[in-house]
Amino acid sequence: MSEMELRPGLADVPVAESAISFIDGKRARLEYRGIAAETLAKESSFEETTWLLLKGDLPTQKELAEFNHDLRSRRKLKYKLIDLIKSLPENGHPMDALQSSVSALGMFYPSRDVGNYANNWEATLRLTASLPTLVAAFSRIRNGDEAIEPREDLDHAANFYYMMFGKEPSAATRKVLDACLILHAEHNMNASTFTARVTGSTLANPYSVVSAAVGSLSGPLHGGANEEVLGMLDAIGTKANVQSWLENAIATKAKIMGFGHRVYKVKDPRATVLQELAENMFAETGRPAKYEVAIELERVANGLLGPKGIYPNVDFFSGVVYQSLGIPTDLFTPIFAVARVAGWLAHWLEQLKNNRIYRPEQVFVGKTNVDYIPLEKRP
Ligand code: CMC
Repeated sequence: MSEMELRPGLADVPVAESAISFIDGKRARLEYRGIAAETLAKESSFEETTWLLLKGDLPTQKELAEFNHDLRSRRKLKYKLIDLIKSLPENGHPMDALQSSVSALGMFYPSRDVGNYANNWEATLRLTASLPTLVAAFSRIRNGDEAIEPREDLDHAANFYYMMFGKEPSAATRKVLDACLILHAEHNMNASTFTARVTGSTLANPYSVVSAAVGSLSGPLHGGANEEVLGMLDAIGTKANVQSWLENAIATKAKIMGFGHRVYKVKDPRATVLQELAENMFAETGRPAKYEVAIELERVANGLLGPKGIYPNVDFFSGVVYQSLGIPTDLFTPIFAVARVAGWLAHWLEQLKNNRIYRPEQVFVGKTNVDYIPLEKRP
């Protein structure tokens, strides 16, 4: 690569050394600290996986017990923060509410000395523990309900569900939500994680780091795609419409939401696990019509887009799963954030260990040496 060659989207340009997660995009392999994400989704818990991402190894029993305790005791929000959430427009997007409230959270727990590991660990615990409470609080308050206080006797996934719906999940629902959180927890140098690292590299406080990452995740080309997928499946309507809908979309160069990935040129391994979860759920209840449309879309797309290496990504089946859990569509991306905060924070801590501020170059294509014309001499 010549010194000033532009690589749009930084494709194939390494921007950091990282030991957190590994992707083999040709062999559909995703590992967190060396352990397959699929295995963690089946065997682990979100809390254990978060420790693994943050610290590098699985926790001992004692470490996990302490970590659980530390998270559970930091879930509750200050009443002023609840008041702030109450003042947000109820028809605003929950990702915007999350970005604002994460930023405000940092004002209650100032954490500007990022040279101090104890401070940083405290902020890591606070952010991981608080995001579900912030998401659940906005989701209730916007409907005119009171926010539900977190319960320390429930684990991360069960408590999140409880705070959203006011009832405990069944064991099967808890497991599905926990697995979804694990599968979304980390994915190396995606846009929001890179945002977190860039923001962290300025030595900004961790609440700003996470708030910036939430903003980045909200876009439809990134985390926002899961929400778009359901709209797309609705627009297609029936299995019979899939072929003509897809042909038309390809002819008009529309992006098929939930398909394609910068790194995976095969089906995203997370999509495969999410589909398994969906199949298990539907074994008892029967497949919803929307899932049938999704399956047909994948089948037809395999023929039309597969040759270009475009296959379902993580967002393709997650929406169908969340909808079956009764979760409103506009909370899909906030749930992604509740999970991905683990990866963002792991990358932030890693960035600080060997920090240099991000300051890339540009390829200048503008004018130079232009004379200033006083206003009165301009038309
Ligand atoms: N539907 C139709 N064509 C596609 C798609 C798609 N979903 N994705 C890529 N392509 C085509 C694209 O039109 C281009 O074709 P051509 O070479 O003929 O111009 C080629 O594939 C390369 O596409 P690209 O946009 O340059 O690829 P990228 O690596 O820059 O973008 C992506 C990756 C994920 C943004 C893109 O695939 C996309 O927009 N997908 C739909 C949105 C989506 O599902 N996003 C979630 C991503 S996974 C979770 C996450 O990271 O948040």
